[in-house]
Amino acid sequence: MRMANKVGLVTAGASGMGRAGAITFAREGAAVAVVDINPEGAAAVAREIIDAGGQAIALSGDLRDDAFAGDIVKRTVAAFGGLDFAWNHVGHPGPSSFEGIDMKDYELAMDINVRSVFVTASHAVPEMRVRGGGALLFTASTSGIVGSPYSPVYSAAKFGVIGMTKSLAKRYAGENIRVNAVCPGTTDTPMLRVFVARPDMQLPPGETAESLVRKRAGLNPMKRPAQPQEIANAALFLLSDEASFITGVALAVDGGSTA
Ligand SMILES: NC(=O)c1ccc[n+]([C@@H]2O[C@H](COP(=O)([O-])OP(=O)(O)OC[C@H]3O[C@@H](n4cnc5c(N)ncnc54)[C@H](O)[C@@H]3O)[C@@H](O)[C@H]2O)c1
Repeated sequence: MRMANKVGLVTAGASGMGRAGAITFAREGAAVAVVDINPEGAAAVAREIIDAGGQAIALSGDLRDDAFAGDIVKRTVAAFGGLDFAWNHVGHPGPSSFEGIDMKDYELAMDINVRSVFVTASHAVPEMRVRGGGALLFTASTSGIVGSPYSPVYSAAKFGVIGMTKSLAKRYAGENIRVNAVCPGTTDTPMLRVFVARPDMQLPPGETAESLVRKRAGLNPMKRPAQPQEIANAALFLLSDEASFITGVALAVDGGSTA
């Protein structure tokens, strides 16, 4: 088992890639805290893990709240005795607007994409130090590698997440704490529908969220969206000891779209 005896947390764990990751890490032997604003969703994923013979707890709250974003580390340690890894996966599409933008939309996207993961990571590091090392993983996006023309705030945030990753990787390499980012391309989750049909994106006549999802997915060389499990597989590798000499990378899992 690739995560035997490890303890970790996954934010945005009730759905999509986070759910796939939590279930995968648990299947590989980890005890996992499933963190999400959706209490029923988080509880269902934890229940699924426990029913399959694994170890999990559900932690429910809004990661925009600094106290909760830090507390999830303490509560994971209290439940399982330490912390070896954290997948800071939560994110938000943000507005499409630029000219005339409502700055409340900007703040919401920055708070979820950058601030909340920063806070969680800052609480995770001391606990990893106690264990003699650990692995942090952030979820950026291909929009953090190349500019996304209709998502200036999202791109700014995800480029920021990659900057944070590289800074922390250098800062903590000497303490055996590895810090990496995974950069999904178009991935088949509920957020993808929200992303393509944001209220301030005018859908072209005749298009629906679903038709735009298909078009967008068709733009990458593999001509399909990623499945959540394909991102979870990359997360598993980066968080496991198999990636023991890998730190500071932003790994695109995008069917070749940024090649
Ligand atoms: N789906 C894509 O195409 C895509 C591509 C690149 C990057 N991403 C990134 O992947 C991450 C998650 O996306 P997904 O597609 O797996 O999403 P998803 O829609 O499947 O799940 C998102 C989860 O986050 C939870 N959540 C939202 N706001 C929260 C908050 N404030 N506090 C706690 N939980 C909260 C939701 O309840 C939901 O369960 C984000 O960081 C996103 O930017 C997604």
